Amino acid sequence: MPADRDMERIVSLCKRRGFVFPSSEIYGGLASCWDYGPMGAELKRNVKNAWWKAMVQERADVVGLDTSIMMHPEVWVASGHVQGFTDPLVECRACHLRWRADEIKSQRCPSCGGELTEPRMFNLMFKTSMGPVEEEGSTIYLRPETAQGIFVNFENVVTTSRKKIPLGIAQIGKSFRNEITTGNFLFRTREFEQFELEYFVKPGTDGEWLDYWVKERFDWYVKLGMRKENLRLREHDKDELAHYARACYDIDYLFPMGWSELEGIANRGDFDLVQHARQSGRDLSYYDAEAGEKYVPYVIEPSGGVDRSVLAFLIDAYDEEEVEGEKRTVVHLHPSLAPIKVAVLPLSRNERLTPLAREVHKQLSPGFMTDYDDSQSIGRRYRRQDEIGTPFCVTIDFESLEDKQVTIRDRDSLAQIRVPIEELPKTLEAKLKGEAFDASSLWAAREK
Ligand code: GAP
Repeated sequence: MPADRDMERIVSLCKRRGFVFPSSEIYGGLASCWDYGPMGAELKRNVKNAWWKAMVQERADVVGLDTSIMMHPEVWVASGHVQGFTDPLVECRACHLRWRADEIKSQRCPSCGGELTEPRMFNLMFKTSMGPVEEEGSTIYLRPETAQGIFVNFENVVTTSRKKIPLGIAQIGKSFRNEITTGNFLFRTREFEQFELEYFVKPGTDGEWLDYWVKERFDWYVKLGMRKENLRLREHDKDELAHYARACYDIDYLFPMGWSELEGIANRGDFDLVQHARQSGRDLSYYDAEAGEKYVPYVIEPSGGVDRSVLAFLIDAYDEEEVEGEKRTVVHLHPSLAPIKVAVLPLSRNERLTPLAREVHKQLSPGFMTDYDDSQSIGRRYRRQDEIGTPFCVTIDFESLEDKQVTIRDRDSLAQIRVPIEELPKTLEAKLKGEAFDASSLWAAREK
């Protein structure tokens, strides 16, 4: 890992290159809320697409869902969130800052040293009211996890999808938690996105499926270029398990502030379906026609944070190196995650080069997210593309006018090859798709 990798450099890169901006910045920002800029929006979408492809598209046993953020308030009674989704909160009697009691080491305020109140349990769900009149009974919550939208639709999905158990239901969407303390950039915020799979299995097979999903999820990050040595698995102790979990593993990432959770894979047993059956009065058991058996399935849940993954992918890909005596900042994102796949760069803005360069851009943009940039020196434009992680730059020079060939520059090796314009889409496709981008060999070569 490069020694100079720290969060401030990532935050600064994100601002400088349009990945992430503070929310409502012209009003001074809003604590722990962030907006994704043009590059960040692409990166985040690519992370979600990669997840959806691996978890839904490429599997016959998983279907997708997109449920509402606001749900019937009884959902959160059944799920245990109204009663138990709390953190212990203490407040400083002097400066009134609030802290999570389980996260501070001493009995005094970490900011001013003042005396703290006794801890009280603080519910993390955001409350609002539905309809024009704020009255009792109109209180609803913003969902703190997407999972419950899946559980309450279990019956709908089983009856309409013609799938049998084991069956997974996947969802990506926003969740909200009124966290007492936030921070570390995108790591802990009050509004965030999750990707969650609820994988319904026959009781008794849950142990095997938990192991299976832990491995699948760990490998997903590695396949997308994250270095193995920056990932680890951690099993939860019995006393730290969530109220619904029988067992849980965290995939931790080595963030600049230390090892922290990237994703959790939990065995939720039959907790949720049993609770919802009880609260709603609906029978949520499953009938296995082949075996002639009826049972309430157990659930294995890989649950990750989109924003946390975006942050981890960026940190992992970030590098500073020296090239011919000059510092180069480069983000070695996996090509499938890179916001821009190819940049078209005419050597200069010029009435002879511009039409050809525009033509090349038009040829490439239906197939790839393509940038076009003809301002400033070519060196500065390469630097910008390196910083946003663009795998390939296509340069059009005066020779191109004669021989109808252009140069492809490779972000990682800096190798340049010349190819005929008509072969450009095919060549880039082959390079982007496969000639497998192997992050571990890239980093191994770099660290030598
Ligand atoms: N349905 C289970 C569940 O929500 P969780 O461990 O509370 O489990 C799952 O959350 C993932 O959601 C975490 O691993 C993390 O990546 C992400 N996440 C949770 N709270 C977050 C927050 N305040 N900010 C950003 N991401 C968060």
